[in-house]
Formats: sequence, C-alpha cells, structure tokens
Amino acid sequence: PRTAAVIPAAGRGLRLGPGAPKALRTLNGTPMLVHAVRAMAASNAVSLVVVVAPPDETAAVKSLLSDLVLPDRTEVAVVPGGANRQQSVRLGLDALPEDIGIVLVHDAARPLVPVDTVDAVVEAVRDGASAVVPALPLADTVKEVEPRPGGPEPVLSTPERARLRAVQTPQGFDRETLIRAHGTVADDGEGATDCAGLVERLGERVVVVPGHEEAFKVTRPLDLVLAEAVLARRRA
Ligand code: C5P
Repeated sequence: PRTAAVIPAAGRGLRLGPGAPKALRTLNGTPMLVHAVRAMAASNAVSLVVVVAPPDETAAVKSLLSDLVLPDRTEVAVVPGGANRQQSVRLGLDALPEDIGIVLVHDAARPLVPVDTVDAVVEAVRDGASAVVPALPLADTVKEVEPRPGGPEPVLSTPERARLRAVQTPQGFDRETLIRAHGTVADDGEGATDCAGLVERLGERVVVVPGHEEAFKVTRPLDLVLAEAVLARRRA
C-alpha cells in the first residue's frame, strides 16, 4: 500500500507573535511549510503529501507549492483547513485516495524533522503497529497544576520524569485505524492536539519510537532562532 503524509498547516501561530500564518513564515528565506513538505517528500516511502492550508490562504499555498521541485514519486495536494488541528487533519484525511494504506500526520510547525525519523515511523507501521509516535525523554521535570491565570497555581502532582516522553511528528498510522479514530472521537471544541491521543481513546495500542531533537516544534520566537541555526549548520 502507498504512504501519504498529511500536513496540518492551518494554524495562525499566535504564540509566535503577529504576522502571517505560522506555516508561511520563513526560515532562512523559505516558508516553514516548504521545509516541512520537503522533509516528508525526502522519504522514499512517501508518494503523496496532502497540505491542509489556512482557508483564506489556500490559493497562495497552492501557487507556492506548484513551483516546488520534488522527487518524481511525490504528488502534492492542497485542501483548506478547519477551526482546530483535529478538524484540519480530518479534512486532510477526506482527501486521501483509496490506495493509501499508511498515513503520516506531520505538523508544518516541525519543518526540520530528519528523514531517518520519518523512515523509522513508516517502518514501525509496516512492521505491524497501527499507531506510532516519535518522542524524546524530557529535560525538564513536569508538574501537574490547577491552572489559575495570573497564578500562583497549586501543584497537584509530579509525574516520574523517566516515564514521560515529549511527543513529536510525523505520527504514523494504519489508515483504517486513523480514520476510525477521527470518525469516533468527537471534537470537544479545542480539538485533539495529537492524533495518537484519539487512537488511545479507542483503547488501541500506540507505540513510541525514538524522536529527534531537530524535530522540535517552532512555536515561540526563540524557536525561529534555533531553527535558522540548525539550517545554517546543515549547510556548513
Ligand atoms: O497550535 P499547534 O502548534 O498545536 O499546531 C500544530 C499544527 O496544527 C500546526 O502545524 C498548525 O498549523 C496545525 N493547525 C491546523 N489547523 C488549525 C490549528 C492548527 O492545521 N486550525
């Protein structure tokens, strides 16, 4: 079966500060989304990339990606996104042709994921896992709190750090499992922040494979500095 990558890229990126939708902001002159599409297309396994664009930027995204030179095996499709990540992913899944058996879901906000990480996720799905997430151990200790805007916030618990993983993308799924998860778990308004969480809610097994530090999510202004430094190091 063929493998497709769905790239939710419809977020506004408010935490990055004012400006264009996050996926269209540039890293060393190239929009983050273009880096993310290239990162998926770099995998020999991926033959289709479905980009879920900000609804009012769909035409701009189509024209941006039509100029892109990608390997011959790779088709690109662009569809308009929804109000939260869960809805955007679902709209991307609706655009998948029948012959796709494995689906990767990859945040446009993780433009620098290395191809080895993409391949490792695909490999784990091919080996029989229905849901695979790349993840890394945490550097920080994490506390669960009672949220109180403005604080101070009472601490409820301290999960054992060695048992925690920070989850990245691409997450990989057997197509049927992912579509069933998105069809079964209702959107609570905020939407799920990762697809694997929906699969967990079905009671199905999700497994973790090693992630990569360069697969970090560009969320805040400092992340832009780091991402440009990583690109500069790759070119050196
Ligand atoms: O906001 P967050 O960083 O969790 O977003 C993760 C990914 O989901 C980003 O690539 C963002 O563009 C995407 N997203 C989306 N549609 C939305 C909100 C977020 O495709 N409505």
